[in-house]
Amino acid sequence: MNTRLDFIFTRRSVRKYLDKDIPAAMLHDLLEAGMAAPSARAADPLHFIVITERAGLDAIATVLPYAKMLHSAPAAIVVCGDPERAPGGLEPNLVQDGSAAVENILLAATALGLGSCWLGVYPHQDRIDGLRTQLQLPPRIVPVAGIALGWPAVVPEARTRYRPERVHWERWQ
Ligand SMILES: Cc1cc2nc3c(=O)[nH]c(=O)nc-3n(C[C@H](O)[C@H](O)[C@H](O)COP(=O)(O)O)c2cc1C
Repeated sequence: MNTRLDFIFTRRSVRKYLDKDIPAAMLHDLLEAGMAAPSARAADPLHFIVITERAGLDAIATVLPYAKMLHSAPAAIVVCGDPERAPGGLEPNLVQDGSAAVENILLAATALGLGSCWLGVYPHQDRIDGLRTQLQLPPRIVPVAGIALGWPAVVPEARTRYRPERVHWERWQ
């Protein structure tokens, strides 16, 4: 592992958090990192819903099946796409733009000493509908993914998942 890439290898899914809030300035930094992600045709079709109220976090933990860590997380961000702002209005671009933003936020959180975990939403219709209701999203807005955030109570080991057999030079064979 190249130590200059530590911020990539130390990013792990963290699902246990300390009982400590995240300063607003740090949440701003994470949002700025998310908005710096690549965007098809620089359309920037994303919206970011920041949730810090306990009732809201608990509600999302019931809407998403694998998000129980939100019961102890001080914050979450739901990355959403607006098809009216995406080239061709196509959902696939939204999902790719949204995923790039999510990864930027996860890496930024790691660099700031925060723990984070990607919460799967798209394309599961029940999760999309649940978040649309809970977050009062306009019907056209597509929630792409959630991110649980908090100060890590456990710090998983840095690791590489490099697999030489998955690398193909020039062509498949
Ligand atoms: C599309 C996607 C959806 C995911 N959804 C969830 C989820 O709903 N809940 C969760 O706890 N982890 C979720 N994860 C995190 C993965 O479980 C995790 O990244 C994987 O186990 C590798 O571990 P690491 O993140 O520590 O490297 C998701 C990751 C991705 C990329």
